[in-house]
Amino acid sequence: MKKIPDNVKKEIKDLVRELNSHCYRYYVLDSPVITDEDYDRRYRHLKELEERCKYVMPDSPTRRVGAPPLDKFEKVKHREPMLSLDNAFSRDEVKEFDRRVKRFLKTEEDVAYTVEPKYDGLAIELTYRKGVFYRASTRGDGYEGEDVTANIRTVRAVPLKIAGAEVPDEIDIRGEVYMDINEFEQLNKERLKHNEPAFANPRNAAAGAIRQLDSSVTASRKLFLACYGIGAVSGMSFNSQMEFIKWLESARFPVPAIVRLAKGIDKAVSVIDEIEEKRADFPFETDGAVIKVNEFRLQELLGVKTREPRWATAFKFAAHRGTTKIKDIIAGVGRTGTITPVAMLEPVSIGGVTVSRSTLHNWDEIRRKDIRIGDTVVVERAGDVIPHVIEVLKGKRTGREKPFPPPEKCPVCGSAVEREEGEVAFQCIGLNCAAQVQERIMHFVSRGAMDIEGLGEKNVELLYSKGLIKHFVDIYSLKKQDLLELPRFAERSAQNLIEAIEKSKKTTLARFLFSLGIIHVGEYAAKLLARNFKKLEDLYKVGPERIEDIKQMGEKTAASISKFFNDPRNLKTLRSLDLEISNPDFKGMARQRLPFDGLTFVITGTLPRPRKEIRELIEGVGGHVSGSISKSADYLVVGEDAGSKLKKAKSLGVNTVSYGELLKLAGR
Ligand code: IVH
Repeated sequence: MKKIPDNVKKEIKDLVRELNSHCYRYYVLDSPVITDEDYDRRYRHLKELEERCKYVMPDSPTRRVGAPPLDKFEKVKHREPMLSLDNAFSRDEVKEFDRRVKRFLKTEEDVAYTVEPKYDGLAIELTYRKGVFYRASTRGDGYEGEDVTANIRTVRAVPLKIAGAEVPDEIDIRGEVYMDINEFEQLNKERLKHNEPAFANPRNAAAGAIRQLDSSVTASRKLFLACYGIGAVSGMSFNSQMEFIKWLESARFPVPAIVRLAKGIDKAVSVIDEIEEKRADFPFETDGAVIKVNEFRLQELLGVKTREPRWATAFKFAAHRGTTKIKDIIAGVGRTGTITPVAMLEPVSIGGVTVSRSTLHNWDEIRRKDIRIGDTVVVERAGDVIPHVIEVLKGKRTGREKPFPPPEKCPVCGSAVEREEGEVAFQCIGLNCAAQVQERIMHFVSRGAMDIEGLGEKNVELLYSKGLIKHFVDIYSLKKQDLLELPRFAERSAQNLIEAIEKSKKTTLARFLFSLGIIHVGEYAAKLLARNFKKLEDLYKVGPERIEDIKQMGEKTAASISKFFNDPRNLKTLRSLDLEISNPDFKGMARQRLPFDGLTFVITGTLPRPRKEIRELIEGVGGHVSGSISKSADYLVVGEDAGSKLKKAKSLGVNTVSYGELLKLAGR
């Protein structure tokens, strides 16, 4: 191997240290000192150097990404069980917990507790061997979880190496992986925009990101971590929760936003009060506070009852709820024509956030809850982007409330409305519905898609109303002169937009596929497609089976993609576009062609192996087994004592093969 020049090695080392320190500042201390762009620039530089020298340090940030997708998660046994917590729903119940602790310890003296916010995320165990991140697992049933190492490695708050503190031989650190509220709202907004279902709360979003077989998806979600517990440890010991938290901090692990030591339960309750007061200002979702006996010696004495420790309890806050009035209900039309009822509320402050609208999801929901315009309703904001109407306070009705019937016509274009069988949503079927067209254009130009800066909602609306763009293809025929004639454009802004449009022509296949707004195709499905199809043209007239072959691609999505690429109008549009599409994601075909692809087999007679086994053999190499013989069968597999099926096959001209021949055909 070529020797790496000392100065380059040093540069790599310095860059790793520097980038790790920026990650720490951003994800743990919450006080970044450089911009994201600066970070990315340095990261790319490091990556280049590493590739050039084939030298990657064990704690290099580039090691966080790039693991190949898994087929399934391996199981991991926890060395110490991961317990759950008993709940206290009132301050009285917290005091009751304290009495139990004292009774058990046979003491009258004040017990020292730690009090921390309860994070609403996914519990994770991180194992470090000799100070190096070794493995991460989910809680599972408490005894055995799933190995999510590749995913957790992408969480930048997780140190890849313990630095700055005494290092135990091996240690299991427990914590919560969570998504902060801002990030969650951003993510859901994007998902809704792209017709993907929104996550109900940050917890589900975080759990969804971790329970992903493809770690590149996890990497694309910004996740945080708060460490609060210890499992097995060797080569070092701790005396108390507070001492452990202090060690975590010195070893650069993120810890809960508040961890206070309280002598006696009254002091502990006042920390609960403090956390509840600050709750609305936390950037993360918390549904309570955890109270733990501080000293590990006492924790051990108290022990565990079934699955919950006697030394801790979780105080649960009341949900964020508020009461307000529905001023009006409006029906909005999305990119794919879905009509969604939205309640316009009298603004109400719920947990520090002013809420003035709430989705009502669909008309089934309206009917189920009997929601009417003018109703007084209870609205809950459980960390959701869009608050939900929990219930109608029927006792407050005056008789003047008005029901809001499902639309008979599209509220925007007046076209007919349809409801597909088995679906709850009403759809506008108008091909030229202005709402849909504008939403589709907005999607096409959005950041994760073609990313055309300067084409915001207002400008799209204007260009559409002036007849300059009726479809996203028209964007590419816009002339500067056209823009200059509009009120919102001057020389500079028109020039900028034309340049942004020009720039967008150079794009990747994944982005372009995503921009098309194919139903069910979000960023992830677009990426999967790009990994499996080298160029756009390879998708033209593609059949659904070919797409279903792609691991993780759903049936519905596959059908929708195939439908899109078999529509002559769409193909014409695609052919008319003059773009420069590259595909850095391409990884080769979804699978090789198999010997029995598309072939149908029928089995008859007594064969040397059980039917089930033969069926599996055929299906394993792409074939299909049918129970009855017809013209569409390709082969009859014939065993001893074959009867009527053989006769029929012969009369239909279907090929017959013996078991031995079958094996040969299958390449066995
Ligand atoms: S202590 C036996 N501390 O809450 C000790 N748990 O309902 C159990 N959680 O599984 C963990 N924040 O996922 C602890 N500051 C905190 C926590 C916390 C969130 C979660 C954890 C646990 C669940 C129990």
